[in-house]
Amino acid sequence: MTEQTGDDAASEAPRYPDLMERIVNLAKRRGFIFPSAEIYGGFRSTYDYGPLGVLMLRNVKEAWWRSMVQLRDDVVGIDAAILSSPKIWEASGHLDNFTDPLVDCRNCHERWRADKIDGTCPSCGSADLTEPRAFNLMFKTFAGPVEEDATVAYLRPETAQGMFVNFLNVLTTTRKKPPFGIAQVGKSFRNEITPQNFVFRTREFEQMEMEYFVPPDEADKWFHYWLDERMRWYLDLGIPASRLRLRHHDTDELSHYSTATADVEFLFPWGWDELEGIANRTDFDLKAHAAHSGEKLEYFEQSTGERYVPYVIEPAAGATRTMMAFLLSAYDEDEVGGERRAVLHLDPRLAPYQVAVLPLSKKDELMPLARQVLGLLQPVAVCDFDTTQSIGRRYRRQDEVGTPYCVTVDFDSLEDGAVTVRDRDTTEQVRVPIDRIAEQIAGRLRR
Ligand code: GAP
Repeated sequence: MTEQTGDDAASEAPRYPDLMERIVNLAKRRGFIFPSAEIYGGFRSTYDYGPLGVLMLRNVKEAWWRSMVQLRDDVVGIDAAILSSPKIWEASGHLDNFTDPLVDCRNCHERWRADKIDGTCPSCGSADLTEPRAFNLMFKTFAGPVEEDATVAYLRPETAQGMFVNFLNVLTTTRKKPPFGIAQVGKSFRNEITPQNFVFRTREFEQMEMEYFVPPDEADKWFHYWLDERMRWYLDLGIPASRLRLRHHDTDELSHYSTATADVEFLFPWGWDELEGIANRTDFDLKAHAAHSGEKLEYFEQSTGERYVPYVIEPAAGATRTMMAFLLSAYDEDEVGGERRAVLHLDPRLAPYQVAVLPLSKKDELMPLARQVLGLLQPVAVCDFDTTQSIGRRYRRQDEVGTPYCVTVDFDSLEDGAVTVRDRDTTEQVRVPIDRIAEQIAGRLRR
C-alpha cells in the first residue's frame, strides 16, 4: 500500500534520462564523491567523500540531528562502538537471520541476490543457477592479535543495537521516561552481494537512526507520528512531494521483529526505492538483550508502581543514500543570459558552500578588501573564495555545486564600501554595504 504526498502524485517522467550519469560525473568532477582507491584501479563500490562531499554529508547529518535531537526535549544522542561484543549480534538475531539468498551462475560464475533477479543471470543470461543459500551480510574480523574463534568480532551492520544495549545507561543518566528516544549517526557495514547504483547500496555507509521507547499501548500512535515527522523532514529540505511516497509493508514482508513497517521511498532514476524504514520493533530487542544478558531492561514508573518493557518505534535512515537523493532532486539545467547552465537547487542548509566570495579581479588592489569580506562572512557561513577565470565562469561553477549566494567585490566596492550579492536561483543581484553583509547573509540563511 502506498501513500502519495502531493496533489501531483503521478510518477514524473524523468527530466533528464541520463540524470544518474550526470550526477556521478558531477560528483567526481567537482569533488563530492570519488571512487575509492582509484590510483590502484578502484575497489568495487566503495567511495571517498571529497572536499564538497564531506561538507554536504555533514549538512545532511546535521539537519537530521537538529530535527531529531536539538529541537526536541525527548530525544538524546549517543555514539556507540562499531566493534563490540559478538553477543549483541547473537541476541539481536543478526548472526542467524541477517542473510540474503545467494546464487551462483554456473556459466559465468557471477554471484547474485536470488530475490533481485528473475531466474536468469543478469550478466550472461544463463538460467543455470545454483540453489539459493543463506549468506550472512556481517563483516567478520578478529579483535586482538590472535585469529581464533574466541576473538571473532563483527563490524556493526546497523547502529540501532547500540541504542538497545545502552537503554539502561541512558535511562539512569538522563532520567528520561517513555516516550523518549535515543539517536545515533554513524557508519554501518554490510557485505552486500550486489552493491549498486553509486552510493545507493554500498558495503560501508552511514546511517541516521533513532529508537523511540514508548508505553506498549501507545506504539501505534507514535508509529504514525513518526511517519508524518519523517516525511515532513524530506519535504522541508526540498525533495518535491511528487518524488516522495510512503509504502507500507505487507505482512509477509515484515522483519522478524516488526508488527508494522513503512518505507519512505524516493523516485530514483531506476524507479521508486527506499530512503528510510520506519518500524514498530515492539519489545523484541529489549527482551532479547534482557534474556541474553540477564539484565532487566525495563522501565519502572514510580508514580503508578508499574513496570514494563517499552515498545520501540524506529525511524532508520541512510545518510549517504539520502545525500544522493538530495543531489538527484536538486539537479536542473536552464538558460541564463543566453547561456546554458547546470544548477543544483540545494536547500542552503544542505549546500556544501553557502557563500562564494569572488573578487572581480586578481589585481592587488581588490584582494585586501575581498579577504576582509571573506573574514566577515566565514563566522556565519561556509565560504568558498574563488579568484580564477571570468566572473561569469565563476558564477556557473558555483551554480553547479549549489552555492546559494555569490558575493562579488569589484572596483566600485573600493569607492562605495558595498558588494554585489547574487542569488543562485533567481540570478538577481543586489548591492549590500560591507558593514551589513554578514548580518544580511545570516538573515537570508536563517529563512
Ligand atoms: N535498524 C534498522 C535498519 O538498519 P535498514 O532498512 O536495513 O534498517 C536503514 O536500513 C537505512 O539505512 C535504509 O533505509 C538505507 O537508507 C540505509 N542503508 C541500508 N543498507 C544500505 C547500504 N548497503 N548502502 C547504503 N545505505 C544503506
